[in-house]
Amino acid sequence: MLTAEKNRVLTEVGPGTPMGDYLRRYWHPIGGASELDANPIKAVRLLGEDLVLYKDLGGAYGLIDRNCPHRRADLSYGFVEETGIRCNYHGWLMDQRGNVIEKPYDDTVNPRGKERERCLAKAYPVKECAGLLFAYMGPQPVPELPIWEPFTWENGFREVVVSDIPCNWFQCQENSCDPVHFEWMHENWNVRLNGKTAPYAAKHLKLVFEEFDHGFVYKRVREGQTEGDPVWTIGRVTLWPNGFYLGNHFEWRVPIDDEHTLSVCWFFMRVPKGREPYVQDKVPTWVSPIKDESGRWISSHVINQDIIAWVGQGVIADRTKENLGASDLGIAMMRKRLFEELDAVAKGAEAKGTVRNSNVAKCIELPNITKKTSTEGIALEEFPNYPLLNARLKGFRHCAGQPPEVRKAFADAMGIQP
Ligand code: FES
Ligand SMILES: [Fe+2]
Repeated sequence: MLTAEKNRVLTEVGPGTPMGDYLRRYWHPIGGASELDANPIKAVRLLGEDLVLYKDLGGAYGLIDRNCPHRRADLSYGFVEETGIRCNYHGWLMDQRGNVIEKPYDDTVNPRGKERERCLAKAYPVKECAGLLFAYMGPQPVPELPIWEPFTWENGFREVVVSDIPCNWFQCQENSCDPVHFEWMHENWNVRLNGKTAPYAAKHLKLVFEEFDHGFVYKRVREGQTEGDPVWTIGRVTLWPNGFYLGNHFEWRVPIDDEHTLSVCWFFMRVPKGREPYVQDKVPTWVSPIKDESGRWISSHVINQDIIAWVGQGVIADRTKENLGASDLGIAMMRKRLFEELDAVAKGAEAKGTVRNSNVAKCIELPNITKKTSTEGIALEEFPNYPLLNARLKGFRHCAGQPPEVRKAFADAMGIQP
C-alpha cells in the first residue's frame, strides 16, 4: 500500500514532475521506423508533450514540438524537406535540433536579418535501431543509446507491435516484475477460456529478485522444477525503468501521459538452421487492437491478457487501496528503488544504468535463458522439442491482430506455410 502522495509521484509523468523528469533521462522506444513509410510525419504524444515525429527527405529522423515556433500551427500537417520539417502555414523550416533554418518571407525582405532572428523550437534526438525508433527527452549531455545484444543478432525475423493503452504506465511496468501472474493469467485463466476446468498449471514455490545495472532478474521455482533449472539459474529481466525482456522479445511501457501508455514490443525469431543467410529488408510495425467489436478487451493473446490486468486496475491504479502479499516482492522492490533513484538524481547522481561509454553501449548483454536457440538456431525438425518456439512457428500468440502480410513474410523467412 502507498500513500496517495507517493502514488502521485510514481504516476505523474509530465514535464517538471519528479518521475517525468526521471524517465526523461532514458532513451525510450516510441514506435517502429517502418511506421513512417506511408507518411513521413506522425503526430505523437510522449510524457505529456504533444510532438511530431518525422523522417526528412535526407533520411534523418526528428521529433519536434507539435506547434510551429512561428504562430503555433500544427506541424503534423507540415511537410518534410531534404533537411527538416516545414510548416504548412508560412513555410518556416526547422531542422532536427529545432533550429529555424528558413523563414521564407522574412529571409527575402530582410536577408541580413537571417542570423540575428533565428529561433529555436523544442526538439529531441531520435535514433533508429533494429527497426525501432528511440527518443531522448531529457537533459544534456545525452546518454548513449543502449544497444541491447538481441538487436545485434543476425538471421532473424523481427517485428514491432504497438498498442495504445488507456491507463498509467506504472501499473503496466509493475506487471514486468510479477512472475506469479504467469501461472494464473496466462495459464490457469487460459484453461478456463478454453472451456476446461483442469488441469491447472504448476504452482510457483519460490521467488527471488536480484538487482543489476539494467533492472532486476527474477528467478522462480515451480512445481516439478529444481534450482538447477534455467528459470532459477538465469531468470528473466525486468528492464529498468519501463521494460521487460523475455529472451527473444522486449516489451516497453512508454508513458504517453498520466492516463495513457504506449506499449511497444520488439520480437525476434531466428530462421531455422540451414536457411541462412537471412537478411530482413524491412522490419514491419503493426498496431495490435485491444478491444473486440463488442467493446470488450481482447483476451485471446498473452499481452492482451496483461493489458486486461493493467486497464482493470483503473486509469491510475489507486495504490492506497491495495494489499500487497508475498507474490509482490518484486513490485515493492521496484517502487522502493524508484523512490531512492528520485532522491539520488535530485542530489545530482546519474540515473540507474545510464550508459556514457560508447563502446559499452554498442552491445549490452542481458541474462537470457534461450540465447542459444536465438543465435545459433535450430533445424526445422527440432522445433517440436522446443514447445514455445514451436508454438511461435504455428501462430503469433503474443498480440492479437497480426496482419496476414506480416505472417506471410514471417513464414517465408522460416520456410513454412503461412
Ligand atoms: S505558423 Fe508555422 S510558419 Fe507560420
Ligand atoms: Fe503477462
